[in-house]
Amino acid sequence: VFFHEKQYLERMLQFQRVAHLQQGLKPWREKEADIGFVPTMGALHEGHLSLIRESAARCGVTVCSIFVNPTQFDNTADLAKYPRTLEHDLNMLRSAGADVVFHPEVADVYPDGMDAVPVYRFGRLEEVMEGAYRPGHFAGVGQVVGRLIDIVRPSHLFMGRKDFQQVAIIADLLRQMGADTELVVCDTVREPHGLAMSSRNRRLDHSTREKAACIFEGLTWMVQNKDAFTLEELKAGFIERCSIPPFRAEYIEVVDGHTLEPLANLSDASYVVACAAVWAGEVRLIDNIVLSEVA
Ligand code: PAF
Repeated sequence: VFFHEKQYLERMLQFQRVAHLQQGLKPWREKEADIGFVPTMGALHEGHLSLIRESAARCGVTVCSIFVNPTQFDNTADLAKYPRTLEHDLNMLRSAGADVVFHPEVADVYPDGMDAVPVYRFGRLEEVMEGAYRPGHFAGVGQVVGRLIDIVRPSHLFMGRKDFQQVAIIADLLRQMGADTELVVCDTVREPHGLAMSSRNRRLDHSTREKAACIFEGLTWMVQNKDAFTLEELKAGFIERCSIPPFRAEYIEVVDGHTLEPLANLSDASYVVACAAVWAGEVRLIDNIVLSEVA
């Protein structure tokens, strides 16, 4: 087993240049293998690895990109503070079964400048929730994922449900691009007490990280009480649960899971999701939960 693993470890390919990546993927493309793609900004955790494992189980080759995309940060301090842990990430990717890692520089992704790469628009999908609090964020996400899809040309794209609005944006992006890529949405991976895995969690001190369980507890409480209270009361209950310092709820919205439009009543849509953003001191965390889904 050790020898097999050793061979495997040595086999993960790494590329920084677009042309080299495309050359590296050629043997798989010629074999018409399914190409699974997991775009990331690094600082990997179990949530990312679950996407890698899902891709490795379904596809002939799994490609992971590590690229901290400047165009999706509305705040330059947030971009500067974003954790960069390449060596650690590469080791994790090897152990999870990634075959190819693409970790380009800004000039590889945007060779003619950031303005030269198309920006997609997503209408209401990019105006609500995260879009309202982080103006321009989804334009940047759509721009970089569009560019990465053009580069990798994956048959399958794996994304985590924790970023619920991002998933809706990417589904719309694939539709606008006419990409022949299946979007595979994987469940949120949580820490033992319920906090959704996120690269930002590493910025929380131990005690705040433990207490951040209040976010998932608040969402779970909403599910448990959805038939007893109005949506306004459910939202107020969530805010109360996430208002113990250093926590402050930025928003809690109950939306139609397809259109992301806010709802007044649970019965107004067949797929209803509660989405929240909560500040834990200076760290902004998001999470969501399905309140109801009628097949
Ligand atoms: O979710 C993320 O990490 C990023 O938004 C993504 C999809 C990798 C685009 O930069």
